[in-house]
Amino acid sequence: MKIRYLTLALASTLAFSLPAFADTVEVLHWWTSGGEAKSAAELKKMVEAKGHTWKDFAVAGGGGDNAMTVLKTRVVSGNPPLAAQVKGPAIQEWAAEGVLANLDDIAKTQKWDTLLPPVVANVMKYQGHYVAVPVNVHRVNWMWVNPEVLKKSGVKEAPKTWAEFDAIATKIEKAGFIAVAHGGQPWQDNTVFESVALGVGGPEYYDKAFVKLDPAAISSPTTLKAFDTLRMVRKHMDKDMSGRDWNLATAMIINGKAAMQFMGDWAKGEFTAAGKVPGKDYLCLAAPGTAKSFTFNIDSFIVFKQKNQDSKATNDFASAVLSDSFQEVFNQNKGSIPVRLGHDMSKFDACAQKSAADFVATNKSGGLVPSFAHQMAQPSAAQGAIQDVVSSFMNSDMSSKDAVAKLLEASKKR
Ligand code: BGC
Repeated sequence: MKIRYLTLALASTLAFSLPAFADTVEVLHWWTSGGEAKSAAELKKMVEAKGHTWKDFAVAGGGGDNAMTVLKTRVVSGNPPLAAQVKGPAIQEWAAEGVLANLDDIAKTQKWDTLLPPVVANVMKYQGHYVAVPVNVHRVNWMWVNPEVLKKSGVKEAPKTWAEFDAIATKIEKAGFIAVAHGGQPWQDNTVFESVALGVGGPEYYDKAFVKLDPAAISSPTTLKAFDTLRMVRKHMDKDMSGRDWNLATAMIINGKAAMQFMGDWAKGEFTAAGKVPGKDYLCLAAPGTAKSFTFNIDSFIVFKQKNQDSKATNDFASAVLSDSFQEVFNQNKGSIPVRLGHDMSKFDACAQKSAADFVATNKSGGLVPSFAHQMAQPSAAQGAIQDVVSSFMNSDMSSKDAVAKLLEASKKR
C-alpha cells in the first residue's frame, strides 16, 4: 500500500481523534531480537529518566516490513504512536502527508546541523525542515564469519572476491558445515542481493542502478552477472532456510553450524549479547568485492503531530536519542556506530571502529552508498517491487535474464 493513498483518511482523522500524549511516549519499532531488545531497553530507560511513561509498540519481523504495515493501519485509524521507526525516502513520503511534527526547534537547540554528517541530515529533512531524528549508522555490506569453522574446513582465509567464494564455500560444505547461514525472507534475500550487486558492479554501478534507478544500468550485463552470482551464493544455503529469522541464522554462526552470513551489523548485537569477541570468536569482514564501499542504513524516528501538541514529550524524545550518553550505550548494544560526528570510539569494539573509519573514508572516496534493501535508497513502492523480484528469483528457477527484465519493471513503480 502506498503512503500517498492514505492522505484523505489521515487529514480527516488526525485533527479530531487523537488522544493527548502529555507524557506517554509510545514508540513503534521492530527491535525484538536479543541484541535489539537490549538496545530498545536503553531508549526506554532514557525516556523514563525524563519523567515520561514509555509505551512499547514493538512489531516483530526483521527489516521492518511488518512494522510498516501495522503503522499504516494505526495512522489511518487516527491513532498514530508518538514516534515510529521509519527510514530513508519513506520519511519524505510521510512528511508529504502533512502528519509529522516539525523538529526544527530541538534541532536548533541541539545544533543538529553541525552534529550530523550532511549525508544523514539530508535524509532527516523535508523541504528544509527536520521531521525525523537519526539514531545510528548501520553498515549492511558485512560478512560474518566463524573462523573455527573455516579452520576445521581447511580454509586459510575468508573469500575476498565472489570468484573465490564458490570454491571456498564448496570446501566448507565438504567438511560437513553449512557454508552460508541465511533466512529465506524477502528482506534477507534482498540484503544478500545488495551486497552481491555491489561486489560485482562497484559503487558507481550500484548508485546508477539501485539509487538513480537508471534503466540502462539496470538492464546492463552487470545486473545479469549479479543475478548469476546470487544464484551461485543461493546454492550454498541450507535447505531449511525458508522463513528463518535473521537472528537464528546468526546463531548458526555463533554455535559453529555455519561459516558465513551476509547481514548488516545488527548481527553484531547478537554476537555481543552472546558474549562473543570480534577477531577471536567471529570475524566482521566486508562482503566479497566490497571492501572499499559502505552501504549505510540509518535508523531514525519520525514523530507524529499530536492533537494537544505536547512538544515537551516530542523534544525530550528527540533530544534523548541524540544525546552523547544514549549514542554510546545504544550503539554498543545495537552493533551500529553513533550518528553524531566526532563521537569518541575508544570504548567500541574493533568492528565498530572499522565501520566508523570506513564511513569517513568512503564518504570521501565515493564508496558510501545507501542500502536499498533497508529502505534508504528507493521510493517505497519500487523498493517493495524490487524486493519481490529478488525473492522470487531466490525461490524459483527464474533465469537471470528474466530477473533483469522484471527488475526493470519493478524499478518504475511509484
Ligand atoms: C534495521 C535494524 C534492524 C534490522 C533487523 C534493519 O532494517 O535498520 O535496526 O536491527 O533491520 O531487524
